[in-house]
Amino acid sequence: MSISQIGRSIGESPTLKLNEKAAILRQKGDPIIHLGGGEPKSKAPIDAILAASAHLNTGEIRYTPADGTIDMKKAIIRYTEEYYNRLVEPENVMASGGAKQAIMVALQAVVNPQEEVIFPAPYWVSYPDMVKLCQGIPVPVLPEDGTFYPRLQDIEQQVGSYTKAVIINSPNNPTGAMYSEQFIAEIVEFCEKRDLYLIMDDIYHRLIFDNRKMINCYDYAKDRTENSKLIVINGVSKQYAMTGFRIGWAVASKKLINVMSNIQSHQTSGPSVLLQKAATGALNGLQSCVENLRITLENNRNIMIDRLNSFEGVKVRQPDGTFYCFADFSAYEKDSMKLSNFLIDKVQVLTVPGIAFGLDGHLRLSYCGSVKDITEGIERMKWALDLNSPNELYIGDRKLVRDWT
Ligand SMILES: Cc1ncc(COP(=O)(O)O)c(C=O)c1O
Repeated sequence: MSISQIGRSIGESPTLKLNEKAAILRQKGDPIIHLGGGEPKSKAPIDAILAASAHLNTGEIRYTPADGTIDMKKAIIRYTEEYYNRLVEPENVMASGGAKQAIMVALQAVVNPQEEVIFPAPYWVSYPDMVKLCQGIPVPVLPEDGTFYPRLQDIEQQVGSYTKAVIINSPNNPTGAMYSEQFIAEIVEFCEKRDLYLIMDDIYHRLIFDNRKMINCYDYAKDRTENSKLIVINGVSKQYAMTGFRIGWAVASKKLINVMSNIQSHQTSGPSVLLQKAATGALNGLQSCVENLRITLENNRNIMIDRLNSFEGVKVRQPDGTFYCFADFSAYEKDSMKLSNFLIDKVQVLTVPGIAFGLDGHLRLSYCGSVKDITEGIERMKWALDLNSPNELYIGDRKLVRDWT
């Protein structure tokens, strides 16, 4: 079979694959614990459900404009004013099928074949493949100082004549690191000076801990005109626990949004009217659901970090936000894929291998599930890895006996 070069260069999303694996194992009746997930377990906000079901009941389920409904755009404009202190116009906004599509379309709108897109590593799994889908070259940059906090000089060193864009995701998936205000200020200024597109993937921006304040990239943008190359991405998936609704958005210059909308119009048309109704309901409704989720996640983070610190061989930094931590397990096994498979096989705990995010020796562990899953999952992992723990472990009434050294 003849497959295109692009088709051959794209791999399956490792995180979506893991969700599938979890579902299959669960269906088989295996007592699995999924610490690899990327979605909060709370219910979608009631305002989202009511708005979508009211529209469903009308029976008038039609196409929408390629860049989103008027109501959706108004809600995004209000959101941008409230959380970014920036007043934008409908032509500056495009709603998409998730933040994922908004980022993809933004890249398609700006990247030419062989042009480079820089992003700090560890990175969200989709960035490299998204850039490859545009026939561009992904350039992941691991901070030289060994932390998860990039410095401007790390990025600056990689910028050349082929560089077209930089993607920044803070707080970050997979590390949970929230980059400093100084770094955000510097990167905004740097991209303006070097005439580079800067894609701010802010999908986790309200899910931050320890009384941190949101960092607003617009505060550091000198170019407030329609020539600005700043693209801000957000969505309802994470903060409103609405991953299955598939609504995200981009805010950028009118010209770029127009190009992005044209691309989207041929790819998928506008996002489903029902899902935009739900997202509009969430954005305009009671916001306590976001704060409740944030508090739950902060508590879960504390529990997970506390348990991980009891491992002799694990090094972990406390996440500043999101619902992930990225722990160094290399003292046990340097090959993260091997380690992740070992944990599934031996104790039915699903984790995401660090190599999927560009850094081997680590595992991404999610704390968006229940406290019971976190504590039991980590306990099982400790039993499997720490050879000083007792030889036997009970999972329900099943007795496991360690037969490896
Ligand atoms: C960093 C980052 N950006 C974007 C997305 C995509 O979000 P959405 O569900 O809105 O497509 C995710 C989802 O995992 C993510 O972690």
